[in-house]
Amino acid sequence: MAIDYSQLIPNNVDLASDRRLQRALENWQPRFLDWWKDMGPDGTNAFDVYLRTAVSTDANGWANFGYVKMPEYRWGIFLAEQDPNRQIAYGDNKGKPAWQDVPGELRSTLRRLIVTQGDTEPASVEQQRLLGKTAPSLYDLRNLFQVNVEEGRHLWAMVYLLHAYFGRDGREEAEAMLERHSGDPDKPRILGAFNERTPDWLSFFMFTYFTDRDGKYQLASLAESGFDPLSRSCRFMLTEEAHHMFVGESGVGRIIQRTCELMKENKTDDVRSLGGIDLATIQKYLNFHYSVSLDLFGQEASTNAANYYTMGVKGRFLETRIDDDHMLTNASYEIDSVEDGRIVKKIVPALQALNERLRQDYIEDCARGVLRWNRMIEKAGIDFEMKLPHRAFNRRIGAFAGLRVSPDGKVLSEADWQANESKWLPTDEDRAFVISLMGGAVVEPGKFANWIAPPARGINGQPADFEYVRFN
Ligand SMILES: [Fe+2]
Ligand SMILES: [Fe+2]
Repeated sequence: MAIDYSQLIPNNVDLASDRRLQRALENWQPRFLDWWKDMGPDGTNAFDVYLRTAVSTDANGWANFGYVKMPEYRWGIFLAEQDPNRQIAYGDNKGKPAWQDVPGELRSTLRRLIVTQGDTEPASVEQQRLLGKTAPSLYDLRNLFQVNVEEGRHLWAMVYLLHAYFGRDGREEAEAMLERHSGDPDKPRILGAFNERTPDWLSFFMFTYFTDRDGKYQLASLAESGFDPLSRSCRFMLTEEAHHMFVGESGVGRIIQRTCELMKENKTDDVRSLGGIDLATIQKYLNFHYSVSLDLFGQEASTNAANYYTMGVKGRFLETRIDDDHMLTNASYEIDSVEDGRIVKKIVPALQALNERLRQDYIEDCARGVLRWNRMIEKAGIDFEMKLPHRAFNRRIGAFAGLRVSPDGKVLSEADWQANESKWLPTDEDRAFVISLMGGAVVEPGKFANWIAPPARGINGQPADFEYVRFN
């Protein structure tokens, strides 16, 4: 179904046919806009930004480019095309038609999953709201804003489900989405990583590489949900999410590239004195964002995850492409666990290990980008390798919480940890240095801050010196 843009809320769910729902969402809309103006990108309401807007959810329509003032961005409700024959692919309801409404007994479970996912979307916009002031180029500024408006749209996607399928509870949850704020001591966002600050662009690129990628894996497993409207919402969100991870991977890559150039041109490792970010500091930021993102997958052994799967609420990554019985009642899975202060392998029922399995899929995906970064370093002839730290490093959730573990997986005493922490995680000094590089925004088309290389290509075939943002 094409997206109807004649409506106050663009949508492809025939919102006009349900007046009550339409009115409820039209009531929420001004509150969303107030939130955007208060908590979204700071001081940007008048900017014209070269943004991508979906006009339909098929391959031809979802990437239309043009200048938009962000408060006028057409946030709406876009679900992937419905497959009328879709069946639940796993668990006790395997083979049954996907649910077009919420089964009564799954109401609170589904609501909780939708609220938890939805809460992350506005959280990241809040975390990033000051970054525009220090953008390294117009190209990067535009990418930041694209990510921000799409996270806003992802909030719309979840709020639509809450309003349409969860009655009064859902409406209250939709209100609460705008009342919690990232880092707010009284009303924080639900998940830890979304209460961290994103104070600089190295953090932003690491966040979009690692934390948006957690989003990809959560969305992909919710795209397998038996609750079809949730599945269809998530499938369309995933097409948008891909760009966020591209921003992260290419952003980190361009910083690495610039660092390597500075090292080679000046025959020195002391990149900081040349206004670049040294590879060791980039590695520390990687360690931090990766470990914080690993926590988002939850406990290694989880009966909740088992129940979600058995009930048909949340599947595995690419569930239908996995060659097994999709019941997992007799299957087992090996996880890392902790016994007497040591990390040991442990075999657990596969159903209980679904969080860990998703985390494993995520880790393998993360490693692919690191490989590409390392190829750039190698090509520059520099002897340095970026590494993902061990999964037990710096964890706050799950079996490894409270354990002190080095990046290469050795369990440490508290004293050894204290003695080395500053080599592995960004120190206040590192953070202050990175922030010090990021003075005022670079706003001349085609110019880039000293610490980052220009992109290989512009957006939508435009040149790198295109005027991606007009300030007015
Ligand atoms: Fe998102
Ligand atoms: Fe995202």
